[in-house]
Amino acid sequence: MLSYITEHKDRFVSELFDLLRIPSVSADPQFKNDVFACANFVKQSLINAGCDNAEICETAGFPVVYADKIIDPSLPTVLVYGHYDVQPADPYDLWTNPPFEPVIKDGNIYARGSSDDKGQMYMHVKAIEALIAKNELPCNVKFMIEGEEEVGSDNLGIFLKTNKEKLKADVILISDTCIISNDCPSLTVGLRGLSYLQVEVTGPNRDLHSGMYGGAVANPINVLCEMIASLKDADGHITIPGFYDAVSIVSDEERAEMAKAPFDLDDYKKALDLGDVAGEKGYSTNERVSIRPTLDVNGIWGGYIGEGAKTVLPSKAYAKISMRLVPNQQSDAVTALFTKHFEAIAPASVKVKVTPHHGGEPVVTSTQSVAYKAASNAFTEVWGKAPIPTREGGSIPIVALFKTELGLDSILMGFGLNSDAIHSPNEHYGVFNFLKGIETIAEFYKQYKKLRVE
Ligand code: BES
Ligand code: MN
Ligand code: MN
Repeated sequence: MLSYITEHKDRFVSELFDLLRIPSVSADPQFKNDVFACANFVKQSLINAGCDNAEICETAGFPVVYADKIIDPSLPTVLVYGHYDVQPADPYDLWTNPPFEPVIKDGNIYARGSSDDKGQMYMHVKAIEALIAKNELPCNVKFMIEGEEEVGSDNLGIFLKTNKEKLKADVILISDTCIISNDCPSLTVGLRGLSYLQVEVTGPNRDLHSGMYGGAVANPINVLCEMIASLKDADGHITIPGFYDAVSIVSDEERAEMAKAPFDLDDYKKALDLGDVAGEKGYSTNERVSIRPTLDVNGIWGGYIGEGAKTVLPSKAYAKISMRLVPNQQSDAVTALFTKHFEAIAPASVKVKVTPHHGGEPVVTSTQSVAYKAASNAFTEVWGKAPIPTREGGSIPIVALFKTELGLDSILMGFGLNSDAIHSPNEHYGVFNFLKGIETIAEFYKQYKKLRVE
């Protein structure tokens, strides 16, 4: 496998560049045609890799690309999931190179989507190409690559429900997460859920002169800031009544086990230019981003933000708020708790409106499954080290639905690094990680077949 990858690595990278040149930003209507074009590129790449039955499956939103290679129905089937859509590249002026003109610098591929998730998804296409070309594909494989992950995968639940037969498999394989470092491989065993919403606070029925009315009429921006500030206490606890009721408490043993993973707080602060970290009292930085829920403002606006000054007491203020959830919190239930509380704390001087955006449920996967052992063995084989199981803070909403709709566990075999700057300017992905990932994925198929069949 390694010799095939080494022989073809330049072509693999140049094909990935072609994929990265397509600005498949699902959130921005301006890129609608590019998102569709990207689906076609992915379909063609799966055909080129040797897959059969490659098709574009239309949904109410952007299409799902499906393809498979069934070598023997009696063998196990792996269903690969990934996403070809990317986050908006804004702000463009903070990119050293244009986000959709990939370049390699210091061993990293710089482009929007290089790590999240085009680079990681494409490793699977190349791993399958290599296995088919060498006539060594040990299992059946199906691909389901979606185009709406970055906007909440709203249409994918229906796709699962209506394509159960087509998606029949033994396990899901996903590369859309991180490892601890290139010296310390890890396998992701947890993802947080998400509840995302927008709030609108209305004061007077029109913008007012801030001298004529200021002091006598509530300013909705001031009120919104006070309301948001009250959502956490001095210990970093979220004050929404009932918010923690469903949160499952992680045992001291498990916390001690998690604390063994290498982590350097000084390096962490340095990498982010922080004077200090901040978060919930009683929990370490790693715990704060894995086993504990959060509440964060993602954006806040209102009033006058143009050049110079305008003396205005605005009519409206807005904020986008996300809550990251952990087992056994439920997205809809948390959204309802938030809404009820936010309405309750609003003073009579304003009106508030809460609009839910999207959500997803948290997941924790087993380290005892055959598929986990196969993935762990694959890392040990290729990286010379057994991977550490880690729970991560990000969300992939479809993973919980794979379990509830298809009854399938997911293996979260990501190869990104926290420093890849996903969702940020100058996103990048290591060429090392790209090639090593292809090798590890190919090895997973061999290990999985061995543990399942032999
Ligand atoms: N690949 C990420 C999720 C991720 C990143 C998980 C790093 C673990 C480590 C995914 O593309 C993503 O960004 N998900 C969104 C959720 C979505 C509903 C917009 C997220 O986590 O914000
Ligand atoms: Mn992703
Ligand atoms: Mn993402």
